[in-house]
Amino acid sequence: MIFRQLFDSVSGTYTYLLASRRGGEALIIDPVIEKVDRYLQLIGELDLKLVKAVDTHLHADHVTGLGALRDRTHCITVMGEQSKADVVSMRLSEGEKLTVEGVSLDVLYTPGHTDDSYSYLMGDRVFTGDTLLIRGTGRTDFQNGDPRAQYDSIFNKLLRLPEDTLVFPAHDYKGDSVSTIGEERAFNPRLQVKSVDEYAALMNNLKLPNPKMMDVAVPANMKVGLAQDEIARRGWAVHAAEAMRLVGSPDVAFIDLREKGEREKHGEIPGSLHAPYGDLRVNIAPGGVLRALSANQRLLFYCAFGERSAMAVQAAQDARLASACHLQGGMDAWKKAQGPLEWPQAR
Ligand SMILES: [Fe+2]
Repeated sequence: MIFRQLFDSVSGTYTYLLASRRGGEALIIDPVIEKVDRYLQLIGELDLKLVKAVDTHLHADHVTGLGALRDRTHCITVMGEQSKADVVSMRLSEGEKLTVEGVSLDVLYTPGHTDDSYSYLMGDRVFTGDTLLIRGTGRTDFQNGDPRAQYDSIFNKLLRLPEDTLVFPAHDYKGDSVSTIGEERAFNPRLQVKSVDEYAALMNNLKLPNPKMMDVAVPANMKVGLAQDEIARRGWAVHAAEAMRLVGSPDVAFIDLREKGEREKHGEIPGSLHAPYGDLRVNIAPGGVLRALSANQRLLFYCAFGERSAMAVQAAQDARLASACHLQGGMDAWKKAQGPLEWPQAR
């Protein structure tokens, strides 16, 4: 197991790099844009392939590294389903799994610091974002924060984990790097309250100044999505209404780039072929299934929001699959246009 805790001293942010083995797939949690070169150097040194970059929530104190990592590694960018950030190409919800090869994290929805705050549990350790810090908790006074929701997230989810579970937060400003659930229950001054009302009163009276970076970081973190407009300008985008007329056409192959869990949860476009984004390079290379298919059919890629499919179109076009296009806005746009759906397990 590869587990690295990396620190950005400017914002006090911890970033975590996880992989099951050297040479395997990796995921990174809460990367900071200024540190992207360092992460990529380490990923190269450990011979890892970055597959997913995850933010626990929309950060107000630093600019996320998600966009830069996506641009440089073509990784999938992940946040919770409440996220309004346009960079996100995969949205998770409570009870789902966040996986890369040999690594599986349970997804816990832990709102309160923000309404898009998630924690991720991996065996003996939990990544708590800014929900639970070491001897502190994330402020709840902006970004749809809610001290009552945070109380519920902490007391009814995180503190119910085994007490020797290691706590790895997104920030620390005092020099602590890790704690445990039992330690936080006993010694975290914010958690020595008798009721949700007492906790809310405590959090509502902190009177903290806004983070220095807030006016820069929040808008920047909202808008780091791929320019799907650029893909459209090149003539490689199909809108949902047009795509609906192509369902069932023998000349068009709908290619679903999402993962199994996303397909089971949200349904798929009828008649589509499942070819996960992670296998794209192999599938479009000589001998690959999509390259073979493209000889007779136009490839119409789709994913959840159009982000992965936009990257896939670019990669396919670069590999001279000239018919490749994608569903702009992905299944999100498809559902809004009331496109037909079917469920993979029904077949
Ligand atoms: Fe935060």
